[in-house]
Amino acid sequence: KLRVGVMISGRGSNMASILAAAEAQDCPYEVVLVASNNPEAAGLGFADERGVAIWAHDHRGMKRAEFDRLIDAALRAANVEMIALAGYMRLLSSEFVESWKGRILNIHPSLLPKYKGLDTHARAIEAGDAEAGCSVHIVTPELDDGPVVAQARVPVLAGDTPETLAERVLKEEHRLYPAALAKCAADVLQSRSPA
Ligand code: GAR
Repeated sequence: KLRVGVMISGRGSNMASILAAAEAQDCPYEVVLVASNNPEAAGLGFADERGVAIWAHDHRGMKRAEFDRLIDAALRAANVEMIALAGYMRLLSSEFVESWKGRILNIHPSLLPKYKGLDTHARAIEAGDAEAGCSVHIVTPELDDGPVVAQARVPVLAGDTPETLAERVLKEEHRLYPAALAKCAADVLQSRSPA
């Protein structure tokens, strides 16, 4: 199985869906570390209760590159081979991204390339979009940029608020992310196996 590290900043519901999918015997990845820039992240307790190793350090007061070296050391110590950002709400240094080139996935709550950054649901409603959704993409140094590997769509309904739309999209995130991660992990394992 491919060794995955999940990075979170808060609730961790996407991380939970990634952990749940990892319980299947034929899942091509295993989660070996959940790491956070926020020691108070609710998701840490959830992972810990399930016996997954956790690491947390408060990023405040640290330079971005300095903090990224710290989290990088934790990921490498756990022999992580691929990273899944799951509500990791901090821009990564280009040094970090370059050193994990092509091996960091992120989930973003919009149909990229639309609505990079924050407040994606409010912006989709404001624009009068008929559809919203989520995207899993490979992380590059630019925010919410990089090749999209999977997307899921939901309708925007009359009377939607950012909260009701977020809830509809989040259900799709929980389905999409484990599947996309499994596909990427399987591809890496496949590329390694002798012909
Ligand atoms: C998710 O909706 C995720 O797509 C979004 O934050 C939420 C985290 O929820 N990520 C971003 O906005 C990244 N820019 P979770 O902690 O329950 O997975």
